Amino acid sequence: MTVEPLATVNVTLEVNGHEHSAEVEARLLLVHFLRENLQMTGTHIGCDTSNCGACTVLLDGQAIKSCTLLTIQADGCQIETVEGLEQNGQLHALQEGFFQEHGLQCGFCTPGMLLSAKALLATSPNPTEEEIRRGISGNLCRCTGYVNIVKAIEYGAAVLRGETPVSTHAQSTMELSQSHA
Ligand code: FES
Ligand code: FES
Repeated sequence: MTVEPLATVNVTLEVNGHEHSAEVEARLLLVHFLRENLQMTGTHIGCDTSNCGACTVLLDGQAIKSCTLLTIQADGCQIETVEGLEQNGQLHALQEGFFQEHGLQCGFCTPGMLLSAKALLATSPNPTEEEIRRGISGNLCRCTGYVNIVKAIEYGAAVLRGETPVSTHAQSTMELSQSHA
């Protein structure tokens, strides 16, 4: 079926468990639908070239770049954005990991990182550092150097496995204070 870019079409998407129906232009990108139609601005736009991954969301559980998908291509699909991670005032284990391990500085890349990490852990609950780095290789961070992001994902993965993670940041702070004692 061919649709003219300016033609309008009816779509229904489930976003974070809630159904949304709308009439949208066929050319409307999913990221603009989320940010402008649904006012969910947690999904960021960092480039126009499919490079940065700031716009990453889950589409039927798979991490995709919402700046490269038309809204009509997501018709009938389940979308998960960063706004859906926290449940009943409780941070998701990965959000807790980013907090505990200082996995962000400016935070611009964080929503995309979180969703890519969630998709990774769904298929690989106990990933190696190499697997984590590969899992977030489509997400660019200009601030952190990635080390703490990897630790944050390891922390979140441990929580999701039912283990009690030890924050490496807390450890190193303790070691530092002991060395100055
Ligand atoms: Fe950069 Fe989508 S906004 S990859
Ligand atoms: Fe600034 Fe990643 S924390 S871009």
